[in-house]
Amino acid sequence: MTERRSPTTATASRAIAPNAIAVASGKGGVGKTWLSITLAHALAKNGRRVLLFDGDLGLANVDIQLGLTPAVDLGAVLEQNLPVERAVTRHETGGFDVIAGRSGSASLVSLTGGRLKTLADDLFALAARYDHLILDLGAGVERTVRHLASRCGLCLVVTTDEPTALTDAYAFIKLSASQDGPTNVRLVVNLANSATEGERTYGTLLKACQSFLKIAPPLAGIVRRDSRVKDSIRAQTPILTRYPGAAAADDVAAIARRLLEAP
Ligand SMILES: Nc1ncnc2c1ncn2[C@@H]1O[C@H](COP(=O)(O)OP(=O)(O)O)[C@@H](O)[C@H]1O
Ligand SMILES: [Mg+2]
Repeated sequence: MTERRSPTTATASRAIAPNAIAVASGKGGVGKTWLSITLAHALAKNGRRVLLFDGDLGLANVDIQLGLTPAVDLGAVLEQNLPVERAVTRHETGGFDVIAGRSGSASLVSLTGGRLKTLADDLFALAARYDHLILDLGAGVERTVRHLASRCGLCLVVTTDEPTALTDAYAFIKLSASQDGPTNVRLVVNLANSATEGERTYGTLLKACQSFLKIAPPLAGIVRRDSRVKDSIRAQTPILTRYPGAAAADDVAAIARRLLEAP
């Protein structure tokens, strides 16, 4: 199991926000954005104050999945040098706050190291006003993803049973072995055909981590494949609102409950 750094741990370049949860994967299309939204919603339904941040800076789509048209987004924050809290938008029915990105924004894709650090510093300072900050990260293991993930108290790595998703999740987990990598990694198997198949997928990845990295990231949960996910995304309505009893919604609600029991 990876060791959790103490909330007060800080290096010269970063301080870790204990209440921040990064949702990462390596591979795109495994359900990070949908999971981030649903997790934010589930935690809010438990009475928690939640801020959801669209950290897929160049290909933002939290706002699209939620049907939000924020007056101020991260693109505006950077272009007009605004404080990041100006981009906070309320998702009324979900009961949580959102900071939306801007898809295709060149200034977000090509953030300099200094600007990225300042943005992250402002974001994590803002997170202190919430019980949880959830960061929907972009695919891959590039600098922005690594920097944001490394500053979160928990990193949920999402995979599916596809070999490419497993390989890319492994590549992401491997970062946690490095000095400036993510700490406290847990795995989520999404799009599982059944709980048993999800367990098997987790077992495969766990074995690789144990053999080659000498770490054993715990399982945060398995989320079943569910046709109502696509339907609710198409309707731009969170699944916990549209289909509260759906299998995939139940599975994410269970992940949220376990996070509250064992943060
Ligand atoms: N549990 C699930 N069951 C069915 N479809 C899912 C599930 N999770 C995600 N999807 C589908 O996968 C697509 C990609 O999800 P998304 O959250 O955009 O992935 P990412 O952010 O990792 O690129 C969604 O449009 C949705 O249709
Ligand atoms: Mg996404």
